[in-house]
Amino acid sequence: MRTSIRILILTVAAILMGVGTISASNFQAPADDITVGAQLYDRWYAVLNVSAPAGNMPIWERQSTNTRSGPDTWRCSECHGWDYKGSEGAYSSGSHATGFPNVMKLAAGMTDSEIVAHLKGSKDPSHDFSKYLTDTDLEKLAKFVKDGVQDDSASVDAHTLKVTGGNLAHGKTLYDGNCASCHGTDGKLIVFRTEGINEYIGSVANRDPYRFLHRTRFGVAGVKTMPVGRELGWQPADSVDVLAYAQSLPTGTEIETATNAGAGSKTSPNLGGPQGGVLGGILTGLGTVFAMLGLNALFMLGLIIIGALIVWALRKRN
Ligand code: HEC
Ligand code: HEC
Repeated sequence: MRTSIRILILTVAAILMGVGTISASNFQAPADDITVGAQLYDRWYAVLNVSAPAGNMPIWERQSTNTRSGPDTWRCSECHGWDYKGSEGAYSSGSHATGFPNVMKLAAGMTDSEIVAHLKGSKDPSHDFSKYLTDTDLEKLAKFVKDGVQDDSASVDAHTLKVTGGNLAHGKTLYDGNCASCHGTDGKLIVFRTEGINEYIGSVANRDPYRFLHRTRFGVAGVKTMPVGRELGWQPADSVDVLAYAQSLPTGTEIETATNAGAGSKTSPNLGGPQGGVLGGILTGLGTVFAMLGLNALFMLGLIIIGALIVWALRKRN
């Protein structure tokens, strides 16, 4: 009974992985403006396959709370956030906080050409990207920040960062069909190195749900192979369902939760693998006990007991 269920699950997983691979490899249509704009917002120099400008973005020096430097300071996402709300959103505190503004709100009140003009430094000469990006790319960025951004405050709890009211079963179907082929059914097959920390689908989903949503909807800048939710015809809510399911996947810190808690905390080296935790402790304890009693004495005692049992059993037969 149990083995047949297991075989069934394995077969279904294999079929889903096959479907995932086929749909991923069929995936070559040119991206639409909002998708490109979103990837430029993520990391424009990765999309253009160029190096980031040298040094820090000039505006960066207006703040000191976010201590990153170099290429990251040129990313729209680093200043305006993955939830697009800048200082009014997830980056209102923490190591990413800059105090830079809510681009979703500002862009909503601007026309596309006003946004493009701003990206060329019309209002603030330091906010000029025209040396690096063509007009066409700036127009795609403008389209994205005006029409592509999504307000997820109703679906992600701002404090716990958990999805509220997502459809877990639907998320699992979408995940197994479109993502598991690369990321694994447990989300751990691809390891992301994020600022020195190893992350998996489960940990990104829990630690940075807005980045997860952005990249599930629009793809990852510079990663051409990954399917783009928007191009699969997904609605914003579909990505929320996938996020809800992804938040239930292992984060890689399960064993250490007692000692290594907290978002953004540095992971401590995991010395003994799974056995380094509870089991290792029990084994060490048992080892001490055995040493105290003396293994030999215990062995002798065992032999005596077995001998006595045999004698007793033979006697009973008579
Ligand atoms: C180093 C931080 C930083 C980066 C990187 C950055 N911005 Fe901004 N952005 C700001 C600040 C600060 C403002 C407030 C107005 C100003 O000084 O330009 C702003 C304002 C804006 C506005 C509103 C302009 C207005 O008139 O109110 C838009 C739209 C915008 N940014 C889009 C972008 C886009 C798109 C990118 C990526 C190409 C980007 N920003 C990159 C810091 C940044
Ligand atoms: C064809 C293989 C492939 C498929 C299928 C795929 N991904 Fe990815 N994914 C990648 C690669 C490669 C990366 C980048 C890894 C890196 O940055 O080291 C990535 C990165 C990501 C990231 C970024 C993680 C971070 O640190 O920000 C998220 C989120 C993500 N994938 C979600 C998904 C979801 C959701 C699906 C299903 C809709 C999916 N992926 C399907 C290959 C894939």
